[in-house]
Amino acid sequence: MSTKHLVLVGLMGAGKTTVGERCAEQLGRPFVDTDELVEATVHLSVGEIFETLGEEQFRALERTAVADVSASPAPLVIACGGGAVLDADSRARMRATGVVVWLQAPPAVLGARVTDQEDRDGARRPLVRDDGPVATLERLAVTRAPAYEAAAHAVVDTTGKSVDDVVDAVLDELQARSDDD
Ligand code: S3P
Repeated sequence: MSTKHLVLVGLMGAGKTTVGERCAEQLGRPFVDTDELVEATVHLSVGEIFETLGEEQFRALERTAVADVSASPAPLVIACGGGAVLDADSRARMRATGVVVWLQAPPAVLGARVTDQEDRDGARRPLVRDDGPVATLERLAVTRAPAYEAAAHAVVDTTGKSVDDVVDAVLDELQARSDDD
């Protein structure tokens, strides 16, 4: 198995946290979520950071979080916030130190998941509050596609797949790249 980090990217609701936690369990590696790391650094929720410091400051904190976790000598499973790939330095670090897997799903599916997870993750997702999740995710899917493409070594389509199936597909992608180490 690869000794590189396993890095999960994709839009909100793609399943990065759920799938990442399971992959970490199976690999016996620590799991790190960049949103959690940012929140722990400034003792504010992502929503509070957007409100009080602004999105630009959140992105700067996110860039530092990606740099910190990428530098870990122990291989990790890293779930990146949906917008982390927008930063070119972060993309370069992810690709250099990890196998980057893009979890995909249609905006309608992502929107339904985000709505279901509102209680758990609402404070972390200020971007979907105003226009409604599906409209926002449709827009982000188009504008961010080039950044996900540039970041990812592999794509896993989660449509119609169980969490276990997605975990297997992601671990297969990691395994397939173990020879590159
Ligand atoms: C964001 C996604 C969120 C969080 C923040 C911004 C985005 O993370 O980082 O609300 O820009 O797509 P998840 O993708 O883990 O929900």
